[in-house]
Amino acid sequence: MKRALITGITGQDGAYLADFLLKKGYRVFGTYRRTSTPNFWRLRALKVLDKITLIPADMADMSSLLEAVNLADPNEIYNLAAQSYVSASFDQPLFTAQVDGLGPLRILEIIRHLNKKIKFYQASTSELYGESIEDKKMQQNENTKFLPNSPYATAKLYGFHICRIYRDAYKIFACNGILFNHESPLRGLEFVTRKISNAVARIKLGLQKKLFLGNLDAKRDWGFAPDYVKAMWLMLQQDKPDDFVIATNETHSVREFVEEAFKNVRLDWRKYVQTKEELIRPKDVSILNGDYSKAKRILGWKPKTKFKDLVRKMVKSDLMRWKKFLNGDRFPWDAFDYHENIDILKRGKTK
Ligand code: NAP
Ligand code: GDD
Repeated sequence: MKRALITGITGQDGAYLADFLLKKGYRVFGTYRRTSTPNFWRLRALKVLDKITLIPADMADMSSLLEAVNLADPNEIYNLAAQSYVSASFDQPLFTAQVDGLGPLRILEIIRHLNKKIKFYQASTSELYGESIEDKKMQQNENTKFLPNSPYATAKLYGFHICRIYRDAYKIFACNGILFNHESPLRGLEFVTRKISNAVARIKLGLQKKLFLGNLDAKRDWGFAPDYVKAMWLMLQQDKPDDFVIATNETHSVREFVEEAFKNVRLDWRKYVQTKEELIRPKDVSILNGDYSKAKRILGWKPKTKFKDLVRKMVKSDLMRWKKFLNGDRFPWDAFDYHENIDILKRGKTK
């Protein structure tokens, strides 16, 4: 049985990847941060919480990461843990650099010293491109230059290059997945797509009156998270390590997302959406549009879910959730988390 360690297993991608790898027959370990209120709602929603083994670790804490790798003894590590909210990286730039930049280096150092056979996936991002293309009609691929536009992207740029350097210098099987935005019903509520789908559901049901947004002109290449975690796995199954763009080949503005989401509940978005100056970032990325032809050619990967389908899935899920709430049902993922019922590897416990 292959063993995988996922850092950031409590996040959107971590939960979907855990589900995917369990279905492939892996034993799955995941790192989580100890918090005063446990944060396992996504793992509960996908019904994987009792099938995985959790290990407490923080990307800023080398000894906890060393212990996690030691305990999991993995064939593959998927490094998904990060301060992933671009906006927050302007508020917490040093923390973001520490976790998103030095975090992957810590894991690569552990691999170098402990077991160079462990395969490594680094969650790189289309944010690396920033404003690098002058012709806005061009798509971004593996050869497009990077020009990061946020503390988040700058930290991730360090992660990207350190991964490439350890691959070349120490012959570690390390891959960068340059993933464009990917969303789902499990997306964090602060990201624009989920903020919209959640608000649309609440407005439709009379629970909310207005939706305040920032830059409506920004364009993103939005895919579906479950499609994208498959690409992560495919990268580590190749004969040689490489970097891949994972995207849909389509770009849409935030305004188009809003329009489509409101259309799903037959409401006119103009009556409900207002822009707010304070939601506009100090610097934003105006357009992302990925060319995934290398992934198609080498990994045999292509996205299954396109824009309209993605919007529909997200709005439908939030509508169902709020309808249940109004009927007095608990949210399916709102259940309390009991640590004692979960297989958590404690410090010092042997494999
Ligand atoms: P997410 O939902 O925000 O999940 C991030 C995960 O990282 C969570 O499990 C979080 O734990 C954990 N984490 C944050 N800080 C940590 C720290 N200091 N130590 C240990 N764990 C920490 O993000 P996602 O959307 O799943 O994205 C996964 C990865 O892909 C991230 O690295 C992100 O930057 C990258 N990425 C995402 C996209 C996208 O569109 N989703 C695109 C390209 C790249 P808590 O639950 O405790 O907060
Ligand atoms: N979050 C948010 N909230 N974004 C808004 C809002 C708002 O109220 N109004 C407009 N936007 C715009 C942002 O300015 C940005 O241009 C766009 O919507 C998308 O914002 P997010 O959904 O926060 O995602 P992101 O593109 O900044 O970052 C996500 O994708 C990256 C890959 O390109 C994150 O998942 C990153 O972790 C990931 O690397």
